[in-house]
Amino acid sequence: MPLAELHGERKQATVLFADIVGSTELIAGLDAEQAADRLQPLIASMIEAVRRFDGTVMGKTGDGLKAIFGAPRALEGHALLACQAALAMQSAMASQPEPVPVRIRVGLHSGEVVAGADPRELEAQGITLHIASRLEQAAEPGGILMSATCRELVGAYCDTLTAGWRLLKGIPAPVEVFRLIGLKTGSAADRFSDSNLAPIRGRESELDMLKRALLDAERGAGSVIGIVAPPGIGKSRLCFEFAEWCRQRHVDVYEARAHIFGKATPLLPILELMRAFFRITTGMDPVVARRQIEDSLLSLDPSFVADAPFLADFLGVPLPEIRDQSVDPTARHARLRQLVARMVKAEGRPLSVVIFEDLHWLDEPSQDFLKTIVEAAAGTNFLVLLNYRPAWECPWRDLPHFRQLALVELEGSDIETLVEDLVGDEPALRKTVLRIARQSDGNPFFAEELVRALVRSGVLVGESHHYRLGSKDSDEPILPPTIEAAIGASVDMLPEQEKTLLQIGAVIGKEYPAALACAVAGLSRQQAGELFGRLSALGLIKACSTANGPGFVFRHPLIQEVTYAMQLRSRKAALHAAVAHAIAHSEWGLQDEFAALLSHHYEAAGQSIAAARHLVRSAAWVGRTNTSEAFRQSRKTRRLLGSQVASRNVEVMRAVASAAVLTFGWRVGMTADEAEPYTEEALRYAREFADDEAGPEVLMQYGRFKASTGSADEYAALMEEALAMPATDLGRIATIQACLAQAHWMSGFLEKAEAACNTALETLAVRRRLGINGIVGLDAPPHTSFDVEHWINCLKAQVLVWLGRFDEADILLEDAFRAEGTHREAPVVQYIAHLASVELACHRRDPVAARRHADRIRAYADQSEIPYLRVNALFASARAKTSFDDCAEAARDLQACLDLAAAANAGREHQSYLLAELSYAQYGSGLHAEAAATARDALEMAHRRHHRLAECLASMIYAAGSAVSNASVVNLEVEQYLARAEDLVRVTGASLLARRLEMLRGDVRLRVTQRALEGQTG
Ligand SMILES: Nc1ncnc2c1ncn2[C@@H]1O[C@H](COP(=O)(O)OP(=O)(O)OP(=O)(O)O)[C@@H](O)[C@H]1O
Ligand SMILES: [Mg+2]
Repeated sequence: MPLAELHGERKQATVLFADIVGSTELIAGLDAEQAADRLQPLIASMIEAVRRFDGTVMGKTGDGLKAIFGAPRALEGHALLACQAALAMQSAMASQPEPVPVRIRVGLHSGEVVAGADPRELEAQGITLHIASRLEQAAEPGGILMSATCRELVGAYCDTLTAGWRLLKGIPAPVEVFRLIGLKTGSAADRFSDSNLAPIRGRESELDMLKRALLDAERGAGSVIGIVAPPGIGKSRLCFEFAEWCRQRHVDVYEARAHIFGKATPLLPILELMRAFFRITTGMDPVVARRQIEDSLLSLDPSFVADAPFLADFLGVPLPEIRDQSVDPTARHARLRQLVARMVKAEGRPLSVVIFEDLHWLDEPSQDFLKTIVEAAAGTNFLVLLNYRPAWECPWRDLPHFRQLALVELEGSDIETLVEDLVGDEPALRKTVLRIARQSDGNPFFAEELVRALVRSGVLVGESHHYRLGSKDSDEPILPPTIEAAIGASVDMLPEQEKTLLQIGAVIGKEYPAALACAVAGLSRQQAGELFGRLSALGLIKACSTANGPGFVFRHPLIQEVTYAMQLRSRKAALHAAVAHAIAHSEWGLQDEFAALLSHHYEAAGQSIAAARHLVRSAAWVGRTNTSEAFRQSRKTRRLLGSQVASRNVEVMRAVASAAVLTFGWRVGMTADEAEPYTEEALRYAREFADDEAGPEVLMQYGRFKASTGSADEYAALMEEALAMPATDLGRIATIQACLAQAHWMSGFLEKAEAACNTALETLAVRRRLGINGIVGLDAPPHTSFDVEHWINCLKAQVLVWLGRFDEADILLEDAFRAEGTHREAPVVQYIAHLASVELACHRRDPVAARRHADRIRAYADQSEIPYLRVNALFASARAKTSFDDCAEAARDLQACLDLAAAANAGREHQSYLLAELSYAQYGSGLHAEAAATARDALEMAHRRHHRLAECLASMIYAAGSAVSNASVVNLEVEQYLARAEDLVRVTGASLLARRLEMLRGDVRLRVTQRALEGQTG
């Protein structure tokens, strides 16, 4: 679908429905033409009110209309504009010269709509429209009824009365409603006089600059400062803080502001300013008002007195003597401006500050007046502060006494403190505070709105400034409607091309390479360059460098979020597809590190198969450094592929993804139950329709899973099955042979393990002889993230130690330690050599070496924080302790080690052996009965998992522990277990255990004899 055809957008808007009450009676007895004559002017005045306040009439009925504010073009303040229009309609009706009063009902509701889907027709869709229509029907004649959502947006500006909860036809839940009474009067500063206001943060240097400008004005060097910043950065707040500071020093401050509905009410800001100056309020007794005007003018300069009636008239103070003076409007305007200029320049004027806000909404006639004031301020004791958003080009920037002060976002620590001020500083809230600070990215208004949104959604509960976490936790991104409307308006002001480019950027992400955006937009670099320039000038994006060349970053993360959210799902999907296509065809798109990004765009484009394909690639890449991320991605791949029967290709991908889930799953502690469905799928694939490479790969991955939680013999059988499959990749074959060696080692078949190591080494040698370069495990697939050859050597060294072939082991171990500090040094492999050395040192009765090697594993564990290594570090140090120091201490370490293995789901392939060693340590510390009990557990587990070394050790301890602790134990049973241990020593070839068995036998004999002697003497 061409992008240009997708026009509809989501918008936060306010919908207004209005309807004449009793229109049938109004036209009773009139013919059609007369009826139209009667109703049409009424409808026309309603339409006029809508248009005056920037609304769009969506449709007329015979006696009413529906209108929308904030769509199809987003409008900040849409709700306030709709309220103004509703009030204007009501007052237009009240002034109708009808014999019978005409009354209308108005309903207002704010919310999300979809608008502009069809450019030929003004339409909007959404539940928001239905609610507004129902509210209109529920309003009293002559009344305006609004929903709570609408009121929330205008509460600060409008007077409302609560009207309870209403059940509206067709809307399931009751809706809280309010009656709109009128606009609030009061100055801009009232907004900040709330006692609940959080203290101002940052801005010290800006306040200093303003204070210095005031000192200059005091010396007659008056100036104008234009404070510019995007919405919500704190222009008004800075002006307010400064004004307060001035007022405390009795400096006169006069304030005025342009209004969002400014174009509909020209000159209002100037009137506000003059009224502030003369301290007159609407509804004041005209006589008093006039006296105030005269007094003020006199205090400036007696020559002004003649202008008093003229000014009073301008300010709407009724004065009979000038009612009939017909002055030409242009002449009147000119005279007023001259008067204003003279007032600013007047000699008698005290030091004064004028604050004029929100010039981006200023109407033209007011701008003329303001220009006069700005120009006249030079060389007076007037300080003029203006504020506006970047979209407004300040026309006075070249005046010598003008300076612009660009406010930027609050710094990280300031915004964090501000969020803490708003939310509270309970430790439990810390995560939420950081999240809000990050999302608001230094914009205090955004921070406030985000807090409000979290309160609304129940994530935060309690009193403001002292919130608590509610029961509802959500990591969903939040986008408050106020922010959506404010940012949406500045996006909608853009010409079509700029807007499209911005939307493309938003689809790509918070940051994007320029070339990619150009490719998607189909623009040349030069064409796009101009558009980017304008978007940057408007403060929507800024240049940055990305991993893939020069690019742009959204000036605020929420600008990206809003620009993204505005677009309809269908359009976003089309753009994501275009982005994916462009990335796939870029040079960098081929790199695995961007595969996840590509997958993200395909997924958002609804192309889940393509998304899965790239995620497989990404998981393999990321798995080399980050197992848990690779695990997450592999699981997601599997989800993306769904479960429906599909093409062979998809079936293969699904099985490969399942295999990858297993690959990474065993390392992050996935349980056997969780693995089950993946395993079945991967195995079915491997056995039924695997190609040469995938079959062995799947079996190998599944085998590792068996290794960590299942039977060692089954692990070995799987590896043998894998090796029987036709395969060509020698690197993979060697890896599987190494796994077979590991399986045999776990089963306790040490000679078989040694043989498998040798075969694997031979395969690698053949591979080298064939001229195949690259380090298996690191460079060539299959990726194990460590050097497979090194792993085989470490395994072999360990096997040799256990076989008692110490001299051969020594050579290999020395070799292994030489790898330290090179690419071969992978902690998860290197620890094996150190663990074997601990065992060897115990055998050689060398406590220093034992401790040194144990410490080395501990250092690896500390550096990497890998739980698997922490388990092994604890084990190694315990093993050294059982041999030399303190068996009781060793038992404690081993218990901790077992607890950690269970809690962190790590090193579970060692569990049975750890238990056996624990029983040994217990025996050594004199806890014979406990030792027997622990050995019983170890036996049970070792037997189930076919861990013969553990079974051998546990058998001897069980026998010894029982014999020593319990006199009634039948000798036969003890002998049986000892015989079993002996058998296992023979089967496994573990000469190390033969030694321990011999020592134990001696110990048992001694103790039993001792006990017998004690029995005789006792
Ligand atoms: N430095 C600050 N420390 C604490 N709160 C601040 C700070 N700056 C602004 N705020 C708060 O953030 C909100 C938005 O500020 P403000 O209204 O001044 O923004 P603005 O730049 O004038 O925006 P707009 O362009 O919409 O007028 C206000 O509630 C204000 O109190
Ligand atoms: Mg402001």
